[in-house]
Amino acid sequence: MAIRFVLPLLLVLGAIAWLAAPLVGGLIERWFRADVEMRSRLVFNSVQETVMDLAQAKSSRQIDRLFRGIAQDERVLALGLCGVDGQLINRSAAWPAVLKCPPQAAQGSAFTVEHLPSGSVLAASFELMAQGESLGRLVILHDLRFIERRSSSAENYLAAFLAFLSLGAAIVTVVVARVTLHGWVRAVRSGFAAPASGLGEGKAVAPEIAPLLNEMRKVMRNLEVPRTLSDAIRVDWGPDSLRSLLRDELPDAEVLVVSNREPYIHNMEDGRVVLQRPASGLVTALEPIMRACGGTWIAHGSGSADTVMVDERDHLPVPPDSPNYTLRRVWLTDEEQDGYYYGLANEGMWPLCHIAFVRPVFRASDWEQYVAVNRKFAAAVVAEAQTPNPVVLVQDYHFALLPQMVREQLPEATIITFWHIPWPNPEMFSICPWKEEILTGLLGSSILGFHTQFHCLNFLESVDRFLACHIDREHSVVRGTEGTTLVRPYPISIEWPPAALATQPPVNQCREDVLKHYGLPAHVRLAVGVERFDYTKGISDRFRAVQSLLEHHPDWIGSFTLLQVAAPTRGRLAAYQITQEEAETLAREINERFGRDGWHPIVLIARHHEPEDVLTLFRAADLCMVSSLHDGMNLVAKEFVAARDDEDGVLVLSTFAGASRELLEALIVNPYDIRAMAEALHSGLSMPPEQRRERMKLMRDLVSEHNIHYWAGRMLLDAARMRKRRAIERQIVHVSAAGGGGHG
Ligand code: F6P
Repeated sequence: MAIRFVLPLLLVLGAIAWLAAPLVGGLIERWFRADVEMRSRLVFNSVQETVMDLAQAKSSRQIDRLFRGIAQDERVLALGLCGVDGQLINRSAAWPAVLKCPPQAAQGSAFTVEHLPSGSVLAASFELMAQGESLGRLVILHDLRFIERRSSSAENYLAAFLAFLSLGAAIVTVVVARVTLHGWVRAVRSGFAAPASGLGEGKAVAPEIAPLLNEMRKVMRNLEVPRTLSDAIRVDWGPDSLRSLLRDELPDAEVLVVSNREPYIHNMEDGRVVLQRPASGLVTALEPIMRACGGTWIAHGSGSADTVMVDERDHLPVPPDSPNYTLRRVWLTDEEQDGYYYGLANEGMWPLCHIAFVRPVFRASDWEQYVAVNRKFAAAVVAEAQTPNPVVLVQDYHFALLPQMVREQLPEATIITFWHIPWPNPEMFSICPWKEEILTGLLGSSILGFHTQFHCLNFLESVDRFLACHIDREHSVVRGTEGTTLVRPYPISIEWPPAALATQPPVNQCREDVLKHYGLPAHVRLAVGVERFDYTKGISDRFRAVQSLLEHHPDWIGSFTLLQVAAPTRGRLAAYQITQEEAETLAREINERFGRDGWHPIVLIARHHEPEDVLTLFRAADLCMVSSLHDGMNLVAKEFVAARDDEDGVLVLSTFAGASRELLEALIVNPYDIRAMAEALHSGLSMPPEQRRERMKLMRDLVSEHNIHYWAGRMLLDAARMRKRRAIERQIVHVSAAGGGGHG
């Protein structure tokens, strides 16, 4: 940059010197000449009387002596006395032999310039007048060569001076420019260090960079357009739109998913390998995304035949029938599984984040395993990444530390972490002994998503309480030492329409099949409940509501059944064993009390059901009960809605499930209020068909629009915007580095 700037400056100043030198030379010549003329007059004035006296006395020798004395002045070359006839009467020694008496200068001027072979001389001729009569002229000669010499030296000095001046000016200018540029870059950068959409607006900025920052803000705002469009225009989100989003907005982005639960489990049963798809909302949501986008899904290989199915790199192409992404299995020892999964994740974090009044247990040994397993999965992410900046989708409370661990090794990665369960308020969160580590780990994410705004706010409050970070609440951004994290709600959803729907028989057929399969009379109104056997799901409360319904609306005795399927889960933990035992006992008691003639009000099936079977149950039912005591989203509610392409069926939904924020046409209940829940059951079963249809239609509209591709699309759009923003920031840093002022 210095060369580019200094060279033109030197050229310009050189041209100035070239033009100005003759002018300066002329000026100096004129000054000296005026000086010489003045001296002549002084000499003449001082010797005039003496010369006239000597001339009248015709004392030629004395005149010579006088001339000799005056000519010793270095500025005087020679003196001569010219008679009235123009003849040279006296002259000093240095008078040039070729020079006669110079002619009288025109218009009374006393000075003429004589150009002699030895150089130019100035001749100053002064009339010697005595009583009105001329006695001749005193001529004083000055050598003008010294003036020429001096004017040419002056020109040289001037050129040298201008050269030095220009060099100095160039150096000073470059230094000032670099200091100013550095200041600008710092100011622009701090303007950009502001949150996602704010770009530092409202911050005090130097007035000179304000216009620049405003221009850049305009550019950045243009990048906001896709969000406005995606929110405002109804896009039919599906695999194709997601694929084109990836192609257009995140070209060449490698997608890596990390979760504890794997989408396909291989178990050994009776010497055969049996494929199982887990009962997991997370898997239900993410599997269609991976089918659409491709990439690698890194998960714990938990099945008894999992090791048999993978290649030497622990890879397995899935889905098994038409593979289009890779499952990378990570192996855990029993010790790791106990500490990380059962211990810290499910006895600590799970009850910590769910208000279900089960006391969290925190063991230091569990924490050690949790840290170690997060590190193991982070290493797997780094090993699988083919590029320095993959998009890493981190799932859930099993991996709170992983985002930071990945960030340390892949600083350019876009890490999107989604927390599938609620986030507690800071009071509740404060009981966790490793709260700072968990918050810091999560803030390694570029984007951190929750299902609801409420959980985002709880998270921000927790950060505010326990970490020293800057929180921009307006834009929901946390700015820490390692970078910024955008904290946003992305309510999760399901595939629309669910893939398994394609093979489903018509609704009437489903109903017939299910009633027959479970030995239920053809006339019963059927409610279904489907979940993992988890204490957060409120299964016993639901049974109590059935009991209350039969107590208060005995007409339903013999004509209503709740079919509850519950997949046993985390069965090694006491809280889960108690939950299952309690529910089974309660169901037995209610059935004993109200059952008759082969009819039972509750059918409880405690085993895993594959997604196709679950859909059939939903299609067979008059009503679906989701009575979670606390739930991030609860995708069962959305799956029920998606299963009902006949636009019939009633949803009874807990107000403490995230889904209740979207499915407003459900009958929203408080699962702790058993009586009210019983009344909701009664209203649902008695609801006129038109009202059922109207409500179902509205819920289907919402889920079809806000489907799983919409969920992923919004997060990926935010990620794409973030990557573009980072690219611009990097350019700014690059410019400042090129200017020599900045770094990193
Ligand atoms: O709700 C959190 C979650 O991870 C869900 O995504 C999933 O339904 C469930 O927990 C799975 O639990 P697990 O993998 O322990 O069986």
